[in-house]
Amino acid sequence: MENSERETDNVRLPDRHPTLRLLAMPADANASGDIFGGWIMSQVDIAGAIEAMRRTKGRVVTVAVTEFTFKKPVFVGDLVSCYGEVVKTGRTSITVDVAVFAERDRHPSNCVKVTEAKVVYVAVDEDRNPRPVPPPE
Ligand SMILES: CC(C)(COP(=O)(O)OP(=O)(O)OC[C@H]1O[C@@H](n2cnc3c(N)ncnc32)[C@H](O)[C@@H]1OP(=O)(O)O)[C@@H](O)C(=O)NCCC(=O)NCCS
Repeated sequence: MENSERETDNVRLPDRHPTLRLLAMPADANASGDIFGGWIMSQVDIAGAIEAMRRTKGRVVTVAVTEFTFKKPVFVGDLVSCYGEVVKTGRTSITVDVAVFAERDRHPSNCVKVTEAKVVYVAVDEDRNPRPVPPPE
């Protein structure tokens, strides 16, 4: 894992394209005005699914979230970037690590690692039955 993926404060974004990038909006906030954890979980699941669908070349379902840590809060106006990486492939399942970073105050150097998660997906066919993960290209 790169340095920027281990530490939390004043980190640099990983040197690759994010799987997903979006702006945290007021509608995504909780009653205290900070970003709702469920919104972040949803983005993590979407980012992980994008990487799982790419790798399995088709439909996937989320079967388990085996790790999930909110390391730092996310604030309204943060630019949120999710980086997914396939870390394990089983017969029909695929495990994706997702790291989430927030750039604050519209400033790329004010970047914080906010969340780390591990999500397991299962490749499924049209009838939602598990299908084998195809070999890598
Ligand atoms: C995912 C699903 C298709 C698996 O069906 P199943 O009949 O249990 O299939 P299996 O027991 O053969 O498991 C399939 C794979 O998932 C893995 N798996 C199952 N439960 C797991 C768990 N809790 N954690 C990690 N992996 C798990 C199995 O190890 C297996 O992996 P492998 O083929 O790489 O060895 C089924 O449980 C399902 O449809 N769940 C609902 C999914 C869903 O709707 N997700 C969105 C929720 S909103």
